[in-house]
Amino acid sequence: MDLLIKNGLIVTANEVFRGDIGVQDGKIALIGASLDVPATTVVDAAGKYVLPGGIDAHTHLAMPFGGTISADGYLSGTRAAACGGVTTVFDYPMQRKGKGILETVETRRAMCDPEACVDYAFHCIVTDLNGGELLDEFQASVDYGVTSFKCFMVYKKEGMMVDDATFIKVLLKAREVGAITNLHAENPDVIDMNIEQFKKEGKLSAWYHYLSRPEFVEAEADKRAVHWAKSVDAPLYIVHMADKEGLEAAIEAKRKGAPIFIETCPQYLEFTCDVYKRPDGRNFVCSPPIKGEESREALWKAVADGSIDTIATDHCPFQSYEKDWGKDDFTKIPNGCAGIENLYPYMLAAANEGKISFPRAVQLCSTNPAHIFGCAQKGSLTVGKDADIVVYDPEKTVTVSIKNMHSDYDHTIWEGKTFKGYPVQTYVRGKLVYKDGDFVGEPGYGQFVKRVRSK
Ligand code: URP
Ligand code: ZN
Ligand code: ZN
Repeated sequence: MDLLIKNGLIVTANEVFRGDIGVQDGKIALIGASLDVPATTVVDAAGKYVLPGGIDAHTHLAMPFGGTISADGYLSGTRAAACGGVTTVFDYPMQRKGKGILETVETRRAMCDPEACVDYAFHCIVTDLNGGELLDEFQASVDYGVTSFKCFMVYKKEGMMVDDATFIKVLLKAREVGAITNLHAENPDVIDMNIEQFKKEGKLSAWYHYLSRPEFVEAEADKRAVHWAKSVDAPLYIVHMADKEGLEAAIEAKRKGAPIFIETCPQYLEFTCDVYKRPDGRNFVCSPPIKGEESREALWKAVADGSIDTIATDHCPFQSYEKDWGKDDFTKIPNGCAGIENLYPYMLAAANEGKISFPRAVQLCSTNPAHIFGCAQKGSLTVGKDADIVVYDPEKTVTVSIKNMHSDYDHTIWEGKTFKGYPVQTYVRGKLVYKDGDFVGEPGYGQFVKRVRSK
């Protein structure tokens, strides 16, 4: 064996058991009790959990947005991912009017390939159907290994919003080719109306970011999206779900058999809209905004009871000076926050303190995203799968500081949060990329994950 991880508590999506894992040629080759095989490297994981690598199914690395480019590129973003136990990231290339899907994806792949420290996949954002021609490329995209597309119901002035007809065309075509449609759901017209009013009234602090797009603004769009997915029976993945009313509508539709999947993010589980009243409230500005305590509790309930399918980060950080553009006008704040390095530690700390089980954390952060998006080789510690492995010390306590993170941004909404339990080693396809607080991987090692989704 190349690597033997011994005596750990192995966590799968269903159980926790003591055992050893043997790795050969980047794959999990053996799992068993007291494996007695020679190995080049032997790791004693006694007292530690051994988990499948995290999958962050929602990132925006080097994304042109809000008048700038998000502060983590492919190198720093995936380096930070590795240091937080994430072994695969799903980034969002953005198709623009007149451009095709494959050219969009290949442009980003050329940027990512030499820099990626962990494996990566793409969902392609669709902003314009090019008179319908773009739909003809969906099959080629699936054949290429990009089996998910994304629509925005918002960001009209940024040229990213699609109307309902476009969204439905995407839903239908994606279903036909065995892909899935991801969706950012908020009501753009109500947001614009509120913003116009607040501007007239001189109400421009970060708190009005929240008030311009409160719970009901997201809920209406969630319900509309659920309605269309149900009506045309097409798979829908609602990203960064943040409000109780929309969440309940989506859960109800799922319960009745609609092919709907729900993602939420750590920021919606940890904070409430009160953060927007803080002097640094602009740093928490993301869309949809973080909601009230009732939504936070509903999200946690759905995380615990299995109704939410995945936790991802929507990692889209900006530097302080960029957030400061909106110090006196919330409409000028670039939308997005950091989280790629905090996702798995946050959810595993919740498991470590008994709020959810370790297998549930693994389902949410690894097994489910792998399954929903068709990464057959990822998402579980099973013989034959990629040896994407995290060794987690339940006794190690880490307090997040910008000084101990591995990204390129200069502040984090997670500053000062303490996690009891922390990853101490991360392996991507059997290669050690993170150890005891340090990145030890190599830019360019990460590979494109060609996905196959069953229809
Ligand atoms: O505020 C956010 N979420 N920024 C990134 C773009 C998006 O809406 O996902
Ligand atoms: Zn979004
Ligand atoms: Zn996003």
